[in-house]
Amino acid sequence: MNISIIGTGRMGRALAAALSAAGKEIQWASRSYDRVRELTQELGIHAEPVRMEQALRASLIIPALWHQDLLTWLPLHASKLKGKILVDITNPFNATFDDFTTDYHTSSAEELQKLVPEARLVGAFKNTFWEVFQRPEHNGLYSDVYVTGDDEEAKRLVISVLEGIPFRLLDGGALRNNRVIERMTLYSRELSKRYEHYPHVSWRLWGGQ
Ligand SMILES: NC(=O)c1ccc[n+]([C@@H]2O[C@H](COP(=O)([O-])OP(=O)(O)OC[C@H]3O[C@@H](n4cnc5c(N)ncnc54)[C@H](OP(=O)(O)O)[C@@H]3O)[C@@H](O)[C@H]2O)c1
Repeated sequence: MNISIIGTGRMGRALAAALSAAGKEIQWASRSYDRVRELTQELGIHAEPVRMEQALRASLIIPALWHQDLLTWLPLHASKLKGKILVDITNPFNATFDDFTTDYHTSSAEELQKLVPEARLVGAFKNTFWEVFQRPEHNGLYSDVYVTGDDEEAKRLVISVLEGIPFRLLDGGALRNNRVIERMTLYSRELSKRYEHYPHVSWRLWGGQ
């Protein structure tokens, strides 16, 4: 399965580095092709720099953009996203990081799926702060990535494709669970700021394996 990552911000870089380190073949695109080319060399990431057009041909696409930007980006590319697995990593935080831009009874994941109903949207990495990718182990444990979606096959494919990255991948259930998951991220941000270990913060469910 060919994978593309879009965006060279904190999460774009973290995901490109993690997937490349896990031996996945990835393509990486941005609004600036040159920036991706420079970054792959500078950071030693084994990713193929591609233009947006080509990145959209991949069967699994991870746009590492903000929810607000996806509100315009997704409809622009909707026809090319038909049937594609779209991994949604967004948290719909407001500009002051103390509330959400979506209503309580919905989530970024559900709202984005409505914009591209023919894409197979799978939520992941919403609780994983970019810094955790650099130091994924804490007290001998790796944090959880809750993988959510209403398309069971797409969700299973994402879990199997991500195998090998330094996280515990859990089936996070339906897309609507992102109402909780996205809120967990903001809450962990608040707590970790209070106890002064932000941004090295993530979630792991106790019990079981
Ligand atoms: N930061 C975290 O720890 C964290 C954790 C979990 C989830 N998330 C989620 O991950 C997403 C990205 O967060 P981030 O911290 O990586 O943000 P960021 O550092 O600001 O990067 C966002 C990237 O989006 C691209 N972009 C911006 N506007 C765009 C547009 N109009 N069209 C196309 N691309 C555009 C840019 O990449 P180019 O300049 O290369 O185009 C930019 O670098 C957010 O939705 C956030 O909620 C973040």
